[in-house]
Amino acid sequence: MAHKRYTDPDPAIDAKVAELLSGMSLEEKIGQMTQRGMAPGMTDKHSPVTKGALGSTLGVFDTAKINEMQRRAVEESRLGIPLIVGNDVIHGYRTIFPIPLGEACSWDLDLIERTARMAAEEASAAGTDWIFAPMVDIARDGRWGRIAEGSGEDPVLDCAIARARVRGYQSEGLASGKRIVACPKHFVAYGAAESGKDYNTVDLSENLLRDVYLPPFLAALEEGAGSIMSAFNDINGVPASANSFTLRTILREEWDWSGVVLSDAHAVGELIDHGVAADYEDAACQAVTAGVDIDMGSAAYPDHLAAAVRAGKVSETLIDEAAGRVLRLKLMLGLFEQATVDESLTARLLGCREHRTLAREAAVKSMVLLKNDRDALPIKPAGKTIAVIGPLADHRRAPLGCWHCDGRPDDVTTILEGIRAAAADKARIIHIAGCGLGDDEHDGFDDAIHAASDADVAIVVVGEDADMSGEAQCRAYLGLPGVQEDLVEAVAATGTPTVAVLLTGRPLAIPTVAEDVDALLVAWHPGVEAGTAAADLLFGKANPSGKLAVTFPRAVGQIPIYYAHRSTGRPAHGEGTEDWNKPYKSRYRDEWNSPLFPFGFGLSYSAFVYDALQILTPAVRPDGTLRVRVDVTNAGDVTGDEIVQVYVRDVVASLTRPVKELKAFQRVTIAPGETRELTFEIPAASLGFTNARMQYVVEPGRFEVQVGPSSAEGLVGSFQVVE
Ligand code: GLC
Repeated sequence: MAHKRYTDPDPAIDAKVAELLSGMSLEEKIGQMTQRGMAPGMTDKHSPVTKGALGSTLGVFDTAKINEMQRRAVEESRLGIPLIVGNDVIHGYRTIFPIPLGEACSWDLDLIERTARMAAEEASAAGTDWIFAPMVDIARDGRWGRIAEGSGEDPVLDCAIARARVRGYQSEGLASGKRIVACPKHFVAYGAAESGKDYNTVDLSENLLRDVYLPPFLAALEEGAGSIMSAFNDINGVPASANSFTLRTILREEWDWSGVVLSDAHAVGELIDHGVAADYEDAACQAVTAGVDIDMGSAAYPDHLAAAVRAGKVSETLIDEAAGRVLRLKLMLGLFEQATVDESLTARLLGCREHRTLAREAAVKSMVLLKNDRDALPIKPAGKTIAVIGPLADHRRAPLGCWHCDGRPDDVTTILEGIRAAAADKARIIHIAGCGLGDDEHDGFDDAIHAASDADVAIVVVGEDADMSGEAQCRAYLGLPGVQEDLVEAVAATGTPTVAVLLTGRPLAIPTVAEDVDALLVAWHPGVEAGTAAADLLFGKANPSGKLAVTFPRAVGQIPIYYAHRSTGRPAHGEGTEDWNKPYKSRYRDEWNSPLFPFGFGLSYSAFVYDALQILTPAVRPDGTLRVRVDVTNAGDVTGDEIVQVYVRDVVASLTRPVKELKAFQRVTIAPGETRELTFEIPAASLGFTNARMQYVVEPGRFEVQVGPSSAEGLVGSFQVVE
């Protein structure tokens, strides 16, 4: 499917921009640089819209109201410049898909592009032109609530997903006849906030910035994204929304990118709170000088920028450049030709059966089976008694997750409803909540224990509510909220095979739960088809295929914990053996170094066997291609999808390097007894890093390669990079 690339050169559009600018007042130009949410009177005759004092808006879901605003902007403002309408369509518009962290666990780029396109179809039909996504922040700290919105801890997986989402969002041929522009966010390193606390300080080396946090943004922009959102946080003391190093040196000079920079909400005004701006005028000058084109929601640009220009504190050239980029985007969106949308589309498209079918596929592929002992899964329901227990078993809101846009709890098929629909005609289903989400009482436990004792299998549905992750929803403890862990323990103690279904927006530190249950399925916040997808997997109609896009810690004290860590000079080896007790090693007294569940891990009902790893290029030049081959056999008795992962280690380099880094992956379907021979072709140029002189280099020497089912295991080999 073709998609729009918003920064491709277009001289005709450039000429139109120059013509528009030449006839605009300073206030009208700054109007294009102003974005405000809907306020009372915004559709009135004498509103900022008709005065040309607003260039874009956000947070509007009422299509008729959007059309009214667009009509006033085009027909009643002096220059007839249409608005851009933005919205946080993070994982679906009305049809809600799994949260992005969940969808990332599918490692299915085609699926991810399709859900992004489907979200764009619905958003565009409802009048949205601008999707404030993909969120591409690398995150390695589950305490940070916004880990839910991104694609996890790894740059290679995040880059691939960022590209797929931009292609999907910016698809051509949407039913509305209009276009959508994407907005990768939050530029940059927002996920590196100290102590996992939202908006907190970010202090990191430029090497790490360039090798881990910047690449997903470059990937999104290379794919044609037409805008980017500057973050709330500071970076080494300079707030991201006043940071000329990131916004001009990197974005404009190094990457030669010509799109629109939108600040995050109030981030320009918050330069005062950061302590770098004395007042709003100072904040406005710093932000526009650094390269922020649009001020989302603060008073800085609309109320103070014109005076600053007239006082000679900031050049009108900067205003022309910023306003010009906004006008260019509007022209490339086609808004001057079509600003409104056919209001009958929403009834046909939003939440339609086709979209829900895709949501079910996405949820099935996003869920990750982390444990399956005693063949607890799949459940054969015929003649069985199934106890469905837990505060989230029939919860309507939790499956929607954070940032669920126009999604509605009534649209959700709960886990219990999915189980009943799949098995009620074959099995006896008992439902007991057992406790509330935030309870500290155990008074519902007796009924739960009785139900579990009476059942052939107990399914305990636990975890976080939708609002326990997302923006400003950070947690210092990563266990299950309330008394849910006690509930799981009590149910498992009955001896009835116990399956935990975990609804969560983040990796949780739940070693006791993982120990107590026979099977553990992480469902994330799986969207409107939560129940159908969970039932598909629990009863074996579908085979689990998801693999973790983020590490699950054993304890909060291990955080940040991620697979691509460095060796240190005193690595500890051999957990559980005598080796581990050697003194003066990099380890804890009271916890292992290893995670509860590693990046890339996920079980299947199939059994995949890896064999015959071949390093086809034992020596490769920096401008050459590393080629490796492996056989993967499905030794199980059901067809399954396996996500084969290739990790590489630069064994000796001029800087310390991660013990392994993901460089390639393939998701393949393998029938029982079938062997697939997979070949990976990896540009040697991707094996480099930013050296001490801030140069990207691929250094000669010995490299190790690991090919397998997760970051923690695989067949290993080695090769040389040669000059
Ligand atoms: C929020 C978020 C950002 C979102 C914006 C508009 O504060 O940080 O991700 O796009 O404001 O809602």
